[in-house]
Amino acid sequence: MKTSQIIISLVLLTLLIAVNQFPMTSAGKFGGLSVIGWASIGVFLVGVGFVVAASDIARTFRFLTRKDAVNLPPPVRVLSPAELEELEIKTYKGPDYPHPVIFTERCIGCHACVDACPHDVLAIVDGRAAVIAADQCMEDTSCQVVCPVNPKACIVINTAKKIRSQPAPTRDAATYMTNVPGCYIIGDVSGVPLIKNAVKEGAEVIEQIAAEAAKTAPEPKAEYDVAVIGIGPGGASAVLTAHEKNLRYVGIEQEQILSTIASYPKGKYIFFKPDSTDWQGGLKVAGLGLVKGKYDDDGAANPVNNAFDDALGEEFNKLGKSQAAVLLSEMSNEIPAKLHAEIAPPLEEKTTGEIKRLFKDYLEEKAQSRSISTADGWRELFKNHFAALAKPEQDTILKVMRHEIAASLQRKIPGDQRERILSFWLGRLEEKGISINEQESCKSVKKADDGNYFVIKTEQGSAKTSKTYNARFVVLAIGLRGSPNKLRVPNEETIQITLNGQPENKVLYSLSNPDAYKGRHVVIVGGGNSAVEAAVDLVAKRDGATIVPRPPDQTNKVTLLVRSYIATNVKFGNKLQLYQCLDDGLLDVQFGVGIKELREREVVIMNAKTNAVTATIPNDYVFALIGGERPDKFLESIGITISKS
Ligand SMILES: Cc1cc2nc3c(=O)[nH]c(=O)nc-3n(C[C@H](O)[C@H](O)[C@H](O)COP(=O)(O)OP(=O)(O)OC[C@H]3O[C@@H](n4cnc5c(N)ncnc54)[C@H](O)[C@@H]3O)c2cc1C
Ligand SMILES: NC(=O)c1ccc[n+]([C@@H]2O[C@H](COP(=O)([O-])OP(=O)(O)OC[C@H]3O[C@@H](n4cnc5c(N)ncnc54)[C@H](OP(=O)(O)O)[C@@H]3O)[C@@H](O)[C@H]2O)c1
Ligand code: SF4
Ligand code: SF4
Repeated sequence: MKTSQIIISLVLLTLLIAVNQFPMTSAGKFGGLSVIGWASIGVFLVGVGFVVAASDIARTFRFLTRKDAVNLPPPVRVLSPAELEELEIKTYKGPDYPHPVIFTERCIGCHACVDACPHDVLAIVDGRAAVIAADQCMEDTSCQVVCPVNPKACIVINTAKKIRSQPAPTRDAATYMTNVPGCYIIGDVSGVPLIKNAVKEGAEVIEQIAAEAAKTAPEPKAEYDVAVIGIGPGGASAVLTAHEKNLRYVGIEQEQILSTIASYPKGKYIFFKPDSTDWQGGLKVAGLGLVKGKYDDDGAANPVNNAFDDALGEEFNKLGKSQAAVLLSEMSNEIPAKLHAEIAPPLEEKTTGEIKRLFKDYLEEKAQSRSISTADGWRELFKNHFAALAKPEQDTILKVMRHEIAASLQRKIPGDQRERILSFWLGRLEEKGISINEQESCKSVKKADDGNYFVIKTEQGSAKTSKTYNARFVVLAIGLRGSPNKLRVPNEETIQITLNGQPENKVLYSLSNPDAYKGRHVVIVGGGNSAVEAAVDLVAKRDGATIVPRPPDQTNKVTLLVRSYIATNVKFGNKLQLYQCLDDGLLDVQFGVGIKELREREVVIMNAKTNAVTATIPNDYVFALIGGERPDKFLESIGITISKS
C-alpha cells in the first residue's frame, strides 16, 4: 500500500469514529449517520478506490504521461533477430548481465578487443576472439569500441551505455583529402584498422592525386609529386601505385618497411577482411591459399574415389607437377621470383589435387551418365578423351583447368602467415625497384609560403640528421601505433652492442620474437602489459593460461624495472604469470627505479625519485616498453582536425 492510500484510509477512519460520537436521534439512522450518509461514504470510498487503481494502471502503462515528459533510461542493447540468425541460434541463452558476444565469422583475430579489456573477459581461441569469463565483464565497452571490422565482430549486449566511437581525423570519404587541401590520409590512422582497407586506400589515393596533378599547373619548387609518410600496407600500396603511374615520389618510414606486420607475434595467421572489399593496388595477392590449416576447405566438395585414383593416380601426379610449373610461370605477376622455390611444393600438391578433381568431372561428363566403377573404365575414358587427342587439344583442356585452379586459389585466400606475407610484399617492393627512406621520422609537414607545395621535415637515423623534402601532395599513412615513448637517457638512440661480431641497437622498443633471445642479460623498463608480457616471455613459454619455464640453454637473465607500480590496466592473467615467475625465481622485479646510465655491457640503475644510484648490473639488451603516443598531436600540428566523440 502506498503512503497516500494509508493517509486516505486513516482520514476516513477518523471521520467514521468522529460521526459515531453523535447520539442516535431518530429512526433510520445508524450510528451518527443516516442511510444516505452511509451510502455517500460507501460511494466516496469506491470512487477513491477507483481513482487510485486507475492512476496506478495509468502510471504502469504510461497512458497519461505526456510524450515530452517521458524520461526513460536508454534501451538495453540486446541481440537483434538478424544477429541471432547470423549466430545460427533462435534465442540467445547467455547471461542477462552486460557482456560481449563475438561473431566469429567476422572476427579477424586481431587481438584488439582482448588487449582493450582490462578484466580478461576475452581471449583468442583458435585464431578468433572468444568470451572466456563473461561474469568478469565490467561493461566499459572498450572491446566493442576498438573492434576494427564493420559490422563489429565484438558487441556488448545487455548494456544501456552509449558506446562511443574512436577519434578520427577529418577527411573527405571519397577522395581521402583532409581539411588541409593537398594533404591526404589513409589506412589505420583514418579510423579503419584493416590491412585490406589500407592497401585499397593506398592505391585509390594515388589515383586521386594523379588526376589532381594532371589538372593543376606544375610546381617547379617541388622536387616530388607526392611524399608518402609511413610505409605500412597503406603506404607501401601507395608508393607502388605512384611508381606505376610514373609520379615522382618519396617514401619515408621511421622504422623499417611494414614494421607493424613485422611486430605481430611470430607465426600469426593474418586475415584479410572484409570479404566484400576487392584487392586493389600493388600488394594485392599474397599466400594464394596455399597454407595448410583449418581455414582451408581444400577438396572437401568432390572427393576422388579409389577406382579413379588406382587407375590414374600416377598419371595425375605427373600432370600435377607439370601443370604446377606452368601455373607458377603464368602467375609470375603475382608471385615474386624469390618465392618460387618456396611456393612450388605446396602449389604442386594443390594443383595435383585440383587436376584430379577436374579430370574426374570432365571424364564423367564424357561418360554420359554411364557409371564407371572400375579402374579399367576410367583408364579407357582417359585414353579416349585425353591421351588420344592431338597436343593442341590437350593443351586447351589443361589451360582451362589451370585457369580454374588459379581462380579457385585466389577466391579461397582468407589470409596467410605473417612470415609469408612479409616475404611476399617485401619481395614485390624489391622487384619493382621501390626505394624507401627507412629509419627516417617525419617531424613536420607545412604548406609552403611561396608556392603550392608542402615542406616536409624529417630526422634520419640515430644521428637525427635533418632532411627537407618539397612535395606537391602529401599522403599520411602513419598508422595508429604512434611513436614509442623514449627513456630519455642520453645515449639511448646511439648505443650499440656487438654480439657475434655484429653491432646492434642496444635499446629496443618492441619484442616480437622472444625466441631470438637466449642466454642474454635483459633489462625491461615499464609496468604495463607489454613490459610484463615481455618479461614472462623471455624466461618462460606460455601454454594457454599456464607457463612453462624455458630450458636453461634457452632462458635469459631478466630484470624488470618499474618506476612506480604495476599499471592498473595490467591483465589479471599477466599479473599471475609475472608473480609465478617471481615465485619460481625466474626473474627479478625492482620497483621505484629507472635507468641512469647505459653502457655497452652494463646498466646503472637509480632511485626514480632521488636519482641516487642503487645498482650496476650486467646487461646486453634493454627493452623500453613504456607505452606510446597516439599521432593526434602530429596531425593537429599539420592543421588536421580530429573528431572526438
Ligand atoms: C597484433 C595485431 C594483429 C592484427 N591482425 C590483423 C589481421 O589479421 N587482419 C587485418 O586486416 N588487420 C590486422 N591488424 C591491423 C593491421 O595491422 C593494420 O590495419 C594495418 O597495419 C594498417 O596499415 P597502415 O599502413 O594504415 O598502418 P601501419 O601498418 O601501422 O603503418 C604505419 C607506418 O607508419 C610509420 N610511421 C608512423 N609515424 C611516422 C612518422 N612520423 N614518420 C615516418 N613514419 C611513420 C610506422 O612506423 C609504420 O610503419 C592487426 C593489428 C595488430 C596490432
Ligand atoms: N595482452 C594485452 O592485453 C596487451 C599486451 C600489450 C599491450 N596492451 C595494451 O597496449 C597499450 C600499451 O601498453 P604498454 O604496456 O606498452 O603501455 P602502457 O599501458 O601505457 O604502460 C606504460 C608503462 O610504462 C611506464 N612508463 C611510462 N613512461 C616511463 C618512463 N619514462 N620510464 C619508466 N617507465 C615509464 C608507465 O609507468 P607509470 O604507471 O608510472 O606511468 C607504465 O607502467 C595498453 O593499452 C595495453 O593495455 C595489451
Ligand atoms: S572491455 Fe569492458 S565491456 Fe568489453 S569485455 Fe572487457 S570489461 Fe566487458
Ligand atoms: S577486436 Fe573484433 S576482430 Fe579483433 S579479435 Fe576482437 S572481435 Fe575479433
